[in-house]
Amino acid sequence: MQRLLLSDDLLTGIASVDEQHLQLFAWGNALLFPEDQLAPLELSNGLAYLDAYVSFHFATEERAMERLGYPRAEAHRWQHTHFRREIRQLQERALSAGPSRALALQLHHLLYDWFAGHIRFSDTQLAAWARQREATAEVQPVTREAMVQLGLDPDRVQVVGPGLFRV
Ligand SMILES: [Fe+2]
Ligand SMILES: [Fe+2]
Repeated sequence: MQRLLLSDDLLTGIASVDEQHLQLFAWGNALLFPEDQLAPLELSNGLAYLDAYVSFHFATEERAMERLGYPRAEAHRWQHTHFRREIRQLQERALSAGPSRALALQLHHLLYDWFAGHIRFSDTQLAAWARQREATAEVQPVTREAMVQLGLDPDRVQVVGPGLFRV
């Protein structure tokens, strides 16, 4: 398995989105390569964190699509829904059958192939549209209300940088 790397072709040019992708890759690597970690996360807990952060990240993009009247919003949102469903299925499998090499390989495929592909093709397209629409396009951070709607407790969300947080 190769480590997830936010290479140049995966940069959207929108700082908050790129930082969120970086954070997602960092957590993905922490889950896929527990040997690198001083205190490895348990897989099912780690997947729950990943799911929560993915929800936050997708909400950031979906709010931007809505605000900008992005014409491909529906297809983009559908891809987000698909990804979250896959992550949740992995979570359920991790809970019922415990961690395994097969599960790690599925997570790797989901992040390394699917998610990176989504960034490369769909997110960069959205970012290009956003830059065209707004000379200084910057995706707005998600509000406390939006976090509550996502089932996250805003007081437990620790902001660790612009667009970066931990739950
Ligand atoms: Fe996206
Ligand atoms: Fe994204």
